[in-house]
Amino acid sequence: MAATGAASATAKAPLDPALAAAAPGGVLVVDFGAQYSQLIARRIRECRVFSAVVPHDTPPEELHALEPAGLVLSGGPASVYEPGAPALDARLLELGIPVLGICYGMQSMAQALGGEVAHTGRGEFGKTAMEVRSRDGLFHDLPAESCWMSHRDAVVKAPEGFRVTAETAGSPVAAMEHRARRLYGVQFHPEVIHTPFGTDLLKGFLFDACDCAPTWTAAQVIEEQVARIRAQVGEGRAVCALSGGVDSAVAALLVHKAIGDRLTCVFVDHGLMRMNEGEQVETAFGGHFGVPLVHVRAQERMLGALAGVTDPEQKRKIIGREFIRIFEEESQKLQDGPGGAPRFLVQGTLYSDVIESGSRDASKIKSHHNVGGLPEDMAMELVEPLRQLFKDEVRVVGQELGLPDGMVWRQPFPGPGLAIRIIGDVTEERLDILRRADFVLQEEIRRAGLYRDLWQSFAVLPAIKSVGVQGDERTYAYPIVIRAVTSDDAMTADWARLPHDLLETISNRIINEVNGVNRVVLDLTSKPPGTIEWE
Ligand code: XMP
Repeated sequence: MAATGAASATAKAPLDPALAAAAPGGVLVVDFGAQYSQLIARRIRECRVFSAVVPHDTPPEELHALEPAGLVLSGGPASVYEPGAPALDARLLELGIPVLGICYGMQSMAQALGGEVAHTGRGEFGKTAMEVRSRDGLFHDLPAESCWMSHRDAVVKAPEGFRVTAETAGSPVAAMEHRARRLYGVQFHPEVIHTPFGTDLLKGFLFDACDCAPTWTAAQVIEEQVARIRAQVGEGRAVCALSGGVDSAVAALLVHKAIGDRLTCVFVDHGLMRMNEGEQVETAFGGHFGVPLVHVRAQERMLGALAGVTDPEQKRKIIGREFIRIFEEESQKLQDGPGGAPRFLVQGTLYSDVIESGSRDASKIKSHHNVGGLPEDMAMELVEPLRQLFKDEVRVVGQELGLPDGMVWRQPFPGPGLAIRIIGDVTEERLDILRRADFVLQEEIRRAGLYRDLWQSFAVLPAIKSVGVQGDERTYAYPIVIRAVTSDDAMTADWARLPHDLLETISNRIINEVNGVNRVVLDLTSKPPGTIEWE
């Protein structure tokens, strides 16, 4: 995939230490700045082979030391001739490890080995008809009649020893292979769904060329992480802040499995959770899993700090600040407790957070922590067992560990909780109204089987009242806003087209069951221009 700017992976920094345990036998994606490097890694993982993205300037000897079974060179900038275009270190091709170059990755491979890449003056974008020339290798019996392309330059002459295995109108070398050296290149994108045989081609590379075994499963991830955590923590003690979300819950369970009661979880219940959420954490962790749990009920303190505050950013700041203070106070108590001070802090940092923050520095505390960042001066070593996992993989691991479905599949919920869904003053009374309305909405969305299809669905309580009539009485009460969106990543979102019957049920139930509400309205705004949350 041609990127518009320079390569994203330019900084030289140490590789993520978590890779050393996970990479052997897996396939590493060498990132030349493609939009789709992560997607390639995902596709490989879907084939049950571990995969991770590494920067293109990782020295070949470092890659070799990770013992991957194969390498994929990703797409990248428009042209290998562009000034500053990331160069392929040709030694990568001499490691004896099978390599698949995709788009720019194939062009770099061709260029490094003496082939020819040229501006053909004819780019190919989107669905492109293709003709297979050789079926001895990756194409074998695949129905490869069309593929998905995105390029201007093309390999016009394959390097010596390579066989051209496919061509298109704009790419005389749409695919090439050197089977003896196990070097492969494709101009098209096998990782996107628009290349219908793409996954099968990747499987050919993984299981035939690289001889990978499809063993990367949730059970294996758990086993690996447990061993890793034991090695890191030794006889030490750890503490984890639970938020009620799936990431911190799975991270905590993994650490508990590894070190047992030497983990203490601190659940700061800020009183801004939804109905029954606090109890759910208590029942699962303190009860079912038997994890030492400090449940801090801080609603009163939080509402005190929020009294009279209506500005959304102020609310966030106050909640973040109070959360940190409470967590610090509780950690301080643990310092003096039996077994000595915890030296390790467990965090549910995900692979996407690692990539997003552009940092491979394991010691950096996640800046966009769910609630607003944990204190940086806590001088604790981080334990981050999810650093190599995507969100959906975390869910699968959570299921395998026996986490209740309600927590595994919980829609994203903001750290400041219901406070940013109550416009204006956050009071106990208004929290109660919103919580009840939200509960009805959640229940009906789940009953309709839509909960997992929606990115988020929730109720909002505005700061206005309107006139209504119930029975013979005139009412003057709050409206509730229904907000439901579909999205892939929360960067953009569309309002969900909920069935009218469902909306009717939700509306009737909220008005009948929630005192203080006399009207239900629907938010029909996509993002942009709206945000998902109302504050
Ligand atoms: P917006 O409202 O900006 O939200 O479209 C995008 C995603 O981020 C969540 N969100 C937050 N999460 N702290 C959080 O932990 C916050 O202050 C916060 N604000 C928004 C929101 O729920 C959505 O998933």
